[in-house]
Amino acid sequence: MISSKPLDIPCSLQERKVLEKIALAAHELGVPAYLIGGFVRDKLLGRKTKDMDIVCVGDGITLAHKVGQSLGDNIPVSFFKTYGTAQVKWNDLEIEFVGARKESYRQESRNPEVTAGTLQDDQNRRDFTINAMAISLRDIDYGTLLDPFEGLADLDRKLIRTPLAPEQTFSDDPLRMMRAIRFASQLQFTIEESAFAAIRSNAERIRIISQERITDEFNKIMLSSKPSVGLDLLYKSGLLKIIFPQMIDMVGVEMYEGKGHKDNFYHTLQVVDNISENTRDLWLRWAALLHDIGKPATKKFEPGHGWTFHGHDAVGGKMVTRIFTRLKLPLGDKMKLVKKLVELHLRPISLTKENITDSAIRRLLFDAGDDIESLMMLCEADITSKNRTKVKRYLENFELVRKRLKEVEESDKIRNWQPPVTGEMIMETFGLKPGRIVGDLKNAIREAILDGHIPNTYEAAYAFLLEKAGELNLTPVK
Ligand code: CTP
Repeated sequence: MISSKPLDIPCSLQERKVLEKIALAAHELGVPAYLIGGFVRDKLLGRKTKDMDIVCVGDGITLAHKVGQSLGDNIPVSFFKTYGTAQVKWNDLEIEFVGARKESYRQESRNPEVTAGTLQDDQNRRDFTINAMAISLRDIDYGTLLDPFEGLADLDRKLIRTPLAPEQTFSDDPLRMMRAIRFASQLQFTIEESAFAAIRSNAERIRIISQERITDEFNKIMLSSKPSVGLDLLYKSGLLKIIFPQMIDMVGVEMYEGKGHKDNFYHTLQVVDNISENTRDLWLRWAALLHDIGKPATKKFEPGHGWTFHGHDAVGGKMVTRIFTRLKLPLGDKMKLVKKLVELHLRPISLTKENITDSAIRRLLFDAGDDIESLMMLCEADITSKNRTKVKRYLENFELVRKRLKEVEESDKIRNWQPPVTGEMIMETFGLKPGRIVGDLKNAIREAILDGHIPNTYEAAYAFLLEKAGELNLTPVK
């Protein structure tokens, strides 16, 4: 009886039930089946996982259909005949079936020649020892961990190592270079020395991988608990130079007349780690990654003053669009948010250097809108000074800015605010068609309110409009 046999990995009741059904279906079809890859790895690490990969020595699609039937009526089974893979969704589990394969790659292509193989062939072609472990679902050794490459020991040693020669593993499928670094960052593992050397020598081959897949791995690095681990490895491996050259422009410290500036690359990595302690939001982490991206282009040495980066916020904001386009990141609201935060990232800091006037606070609230909290989070993450007194002073100033933001927002409700006199009202009042004059009048009203010259009321705004329009010889039509 299979169900009485223990598994070498911890599984929930539901997972055990599914595995037993798969084992039974495989037994009835006469095909040996195994649970393999990420699920086994993550269970051994105590990480959450819902994706099961089943490999069988036979036809994965036939096995998937049989498992689908045994799990109940109307269990959808989707399959891709060309790849010989099938997927069954059951409750929150996604179970992927495939026949064991042997793969051989040619230098010029990513597409391997695939033939049917044994479990051992299938384990050989996998990327890392920790991903090549399998749990048998056969009758004779149900539940046993089959670990030909000492993956379990590598989990213990926290080591990323390839089953075969690393040169071959990475050359076969160059995406694995990104995966190695992603796992190192996600799991806080070390990449074995010879494997890392192979990544360095194969880095150029990343060019044959689609941008979407590269960016997918990059984002997983960004979402790891300490993204600097992966980002630094990307840099040291030579991959970053190929996939994201603008980051490389930030590396290093230039000296002139005995004065240097901070290394903007490592400062950025620290800011990304800092913000990651407070948010799992990918786009806030991206804002941290790009906040100083305009620095290399704006860097100047001003005699008597030192290094300056004037306008790096605006230049950086412009670069966001180009970078998002090149990396095939989404170009809608997420990009707008990142761009806005990059553009505004100096504003709260500059507020702390002068008197914090109501109008400066109102402007900041108006420009940041609902993203004001995210902006403050970025600015706090941006403090990476080693000087404790300085850090303390910055944080206290930010506290003050936050307090003032709250007060001004409570009294003025500027967040998501629209001036009380709209463009339509202006056109109607003076019989104007849409055009520059309407825009100018609208802006003048908004500026007057934000600067505190007139109160934020319809009456005051309308009176101000009449006055401004009068200067342009406009008179109301009614
Ligand atoms: N695999 C591989 N080479 C790749 C991608 C995947 O050898 N380029 C193998 C690994 O054995 C991996 C398994 O296929 O464990 C499943 O791949 P995937 O689902 O992409 O990754 P996981 O390892 O499950 O990790 P994650 O879910 O975090 O992406």
